[in-house]
Amino acid sequence: MKTLIEFIHERQEAFPGATGELSRLLNDIGIAAKIVNRDINRAGLANILGLEGSTNVQGEEQKKLDVFANEHFIKALRNGGQCCAIVSEENEELITFDSELSNKGRYVVAMDPLDGSSNIDVNVSIGTIFAIWRRTSPVGKPGTKEDFIQPGSKMVAAGYVIYGSSTMLVYSTGAGVHAFTYDPTVGLFILSEESMRIPDGGNIYSVNEANYIYFPEGVKEYIRYCQEDHPETSRPYTTRYIGSLVADFHRNLIRGGIYLYPGTKKNRQGKLRLLYECIPIAFLAEQAGGKASDGFRRILDIRPGTIHQRSPLFVGSSHMVEKAEYFMRYYSRDFETNA
Ligand code: AHG
Ligand code: MN
Ligand code: MN
Repeated sequence: MKTLIEFIHERQEAFPGATGELSRLLNDIGIAAKIVNRDINRAGLANILGLEGSTNVQGEEQKKLDVFANEHFIKALRNGGQCCAIVSEENEELITFDSELSNKGRYVVAMDPLDGSSNIDVNVSIGTIFAIWRRTSPVGKPGTKEDFIQPGSKMVAAGYVIYGSSTMLVYSTGAGVHAFTYDPTVGLFILSEESMRIPDGGNIYSVNEANYIYFPEGVKEYIRYCQEDHPETSRPYTTRYIGSLVADFHRNLIRGGIYLYPGTKKNRQGKLRLLYECIPIAFLAEQAGGKASDGFRRILDIRPGTIHQRSPLFVGSSHMVEKAEYFMRYYSRDFETNA
C-alpha cells in the first residue's frame, strides 16, 4: 500500500536537483481535494437536514459547492506558499496573494475547482482540474498573467480529482499518469494504478449530440461514422456523455474512447477553457499515450492569448482522435483558422 505523499516523494528522489516544492504543491492540492470531497459527500444531507456548518450557524448563507471548492483550493495554495498566482474558472481576474511567502513561490496554478457543475445537485460524478506551470516572472514578486501565457507543452504537472463512486486523484508530472483512490476511513489517497495507458482504439464517443445541427460538417461526418457498424464489433460505437469532462475523460482513459466539444458556427472556440480544462486534460491524455487536438492542432502547442480563452477539444484514444481530425480536415477546413 503506497500513499500519494509516499509516491510523490519517491518520484522526487529520482530528480537529484528537485527541491521538494512541487511535491509540496501537489500535496496541498491533495489536502484541498479531501476537504472538497467531504463537502460534496455531505451536500445532499446538508440540503435535506440543514446540517450544522452548512446552513446558518455562523450567520453565513449556504454557499454553492463550486464557490466552496474554489475557496478551499485557493486557501490551500495560499497557505502552502509554493504558488504565486492562480487562474480559476470562478474568478475573472488573476488571483495573487502579495505575501512574502507566496511571492517566493515558483509555480502558478490554473484550476477548474468544480467541473460538471450541472451534475452537483443530481448525485452524478463531478471533478476538479488543475494545471501547474513554472513562473516566468521574477521570484519575490506576485505572479502575473504572463506566467500563464505558456503553451501546454511547457507544463510541469496536471491532474484532476474525480468525485465519483469513489474519489480519485489522477496526476502526471510528465512521467506517466498515476491514479490514487481516496480511502475515507484513513483519510489517505492510496496508489491504485501506476503508469496508466489509454487503449489506442475504443468504441465510446462522448459528445453533447443535442448541438448536432450547429456542429461543423467534419464532426457530423465523424458522428455518422461512429454510428456505422464497425468490423471489430459488428455494431455501431456507443455514446456515453455525463456532462462532466473529468468523468467522461476518466471513463474513456480506462475503456478507450473520444470526448469531443467542438466549435460551432456561433461559438467557433467551443465552450471549454484552454488553461484549466483543455490543456491539463490534453497533457494527461498524451502522458497516457492518447491524443488531444482542437480538430487541427495539438492542444499542447497552442499558446493561450488570454487566461480564460476557449478552445474546441477532441481528446482520447489516439486512433479515434486521428480519425476525427481526418474528418475535420476533409470537411471543415473553414474552421481551421479559428486560432
Ligand atoms: P463546468 O461545470 O466547469 O462549467 O464545466 C462543464 C463543462 C464540461 O465539464 C462538460 O463536459 C461540458 O461543460 C458540458 O457542457 P454541455 O452541457 O454544453 O454539454
Ligand atoms: Mn469545467
Ligand atoms: Mn467549473
